[in-house]
Amino acid sequence: MKQKKYDLKTTILSNQKVAEDHYMLHCNCPEIAHSAEPGQFIHVLFNAGGGLLLRRPFTIYTIEGQQISMLYQVIGEGTSILSKMKPGTAIHVLGPLGNTFTVCDDLDLAIVVGGGAGIASLMLLITELKTRQIETSVLVGAMNESRLLSQTDIQDLGITPQIATDDGSVGYQGLVTDLLSELLSKTSKHKITVFTCGPYGMLKAVANICHKFDRVCQVAMENRMGCALGVCLGCVCKVRIETDSEEFEYQRVCTEGPVFAAPNIIWDI
Ligand SMILES: Cc1cc2nc3c(=O)[nH]c(=O)nc-3n(C[C@H](O)[C@H](O)[C@H](O)COP(=O)(O)OP(=O)(O)OC[C@H]3O[C@@H](n4cnc5c(N)ncnc54)[C@H](O)[C@@H]3O)c2cc1C
Ligand code: FES
Repeated sequence: MKQKKYDLKTTILSNQKVAEDHYMLHCNCPEIAHSAEPGQFIHVLFNAGGGLLLRRPFTIYTIEGQQISMLYQVIGEGTSILSKMKPGTAIHVLGPLGNTFTVCDDLDLAIVVGGGAGIASLMLLITELKTRQIETSVLVGAMNESRLLSQTDIQDLGITPQIATDDGSVGYQGLVTDLLSELLSKTSKHKITVFTCGPYGMLKAVANICHKFDRVCQVAMENRMGCALGVCLGCVCKVRIETDSEEFEYQRVCTEGPVFAAPNIIWDI
């Protein structure tokens, strides 16, 4: 059954800096809060009168009652404008959009790998894994301590994340994918799924590691978007028609995704 989408006018309740270049925004969106699932995203219109015509996509970070939050990185014009918006400012939120992560009941271990702002797309999933009492390891990568995200939020769920930073300012010095390789090489668990979101190169590396260890992997892709409604084709990625086939079709990250089975993605670079 098709899920209903809502286009809600709401106001920013809070919009606070949580790390270097990263902000957390809360707003009331009751209909979206009641129906969104892990992996799904919203398309947010802000500052339309100020010249920013296109919406920007963000994953839902938390749902509490009627409130949703998003955790976002300031990367360009739109997120820079958004980061300066005060509580009380009107925004339009369209959602919930896209598909969801698939979590099997009989998992022995879920491994969640987030790189940079990618962890924002995994928090609702981590919350669900916890609720469903599925054993979960969370691996978080960041450039350095000042850009490390979500450590406390994950700890509040009773999970101690393993951390990797490029400069070693906190946790392991190196790539979060090194932590994943180590975990997969040591674990005795049988039924494992790896869930990941982050920069393109990291997703590709995670997919390759999971292939090497013959583990199921779901990736949340974050291609640039135009409409987010399946119309403009601006967000497509190459997806294999069959596993192990080199034949592919273009699928829309906004509608067929954002979550894909990692072995089906054809990585361009
Ligand atoms: C489904 C989905 C969910 C997302 N969830 C989150 C989230 O929860 N938190 C978060 O911080 N970000 C998330 N993003 C990325 C976010 O949408 C972009 O960072 C944002 O739209 C950038 O807007 P801007 O106007 O600041 O940047 P622009 O001015 O539009 O771009 C500035 C620079 O960033 C690059 N850029 C823009 N968008 C992306 C992108 N999607 N991936 C890689 N590079 C990009 C551009 O190429 C350009 O170099 C998500 C993206 C998608 C598709
Ligand atoms: S963003 Fe327009 S089709 Fe996906």
